[in-house]
Amino acid sequence: MSKYFVAYFSASGETARLAKTIAGVVVGDLYEIAPEQRYSTADLNWQDQKSRSTLEMKDEASRPAIAGKAEGIQEAEYVLVGFPIWWYQAPRIIQTFLESYDLSGKTVIPFCTSGGSGLGKTVEILKKSCSDSTKWKEGKRFSSRAGEGEIRSWIDSLGLSD
Ligand SMILES: Cc1cc2nc3c(=O)[nH]c(=O)nc-3n(C[C@H](O)[C@H](O)[C@H](O)COP(=O)(O)O)c2cc1C
Repeated sequence: MSKYFVAYFSASGETARLAKTIAGVVVGDLYEIAPEQRYSTADLNWQDQKSRSTLEMKDEASRPAIAGKAEGIQEAEYVLVGFPIWWYQAPRIIQTFLESYDLSGKTVIPFCTSGGSGLGKTVEILKKSCSDSTKWKEGKRFSSRAGEGEIRSWIDSLGLSD
């Protein structure tokens, strides 16, 4: 069991690819936050005011259900959480994930992919889904072209204990 747990949600594969590289760099367990109901192309249409993603992001209380459990997360010291940016923040399913486990005393490290937006107020919003004793490291946005070197420098810059 690794002290690093890399959990990610990815609707179209970009964050999944990044998460796999990150898990390789930290030698951590890799877990996909899989929605009970997968997002269709129509669900992801941000130009449609009535699409599933638009409706979820407009509703702060929306918590889309997750299929399966994150086995081994309780043993980890560092939980890296990856997601695509949706409407300048994390998809609501990330809040479902954080609220499903007791992450007290652990360190959460967010990472994301996007079309260009940074994390903005994302971390501020996600902190509300964890207890006060959960620690946070500064997250990072990566482009879909991010390679292992960039990821390694980011991990090194976090100063995590061995
Ligand atoms: C519903 C929706 C909303 C999005 N909102 C943003 C946004 O606000 N800013 C941005 O730069 N990209 C936005 N994107 C683009 C995604 O963040 C980007 O394509 C991401 O890399 C997709 O990751 P994935 O393949 O892991 O799902 C949005 C995409 C979707 C589907």
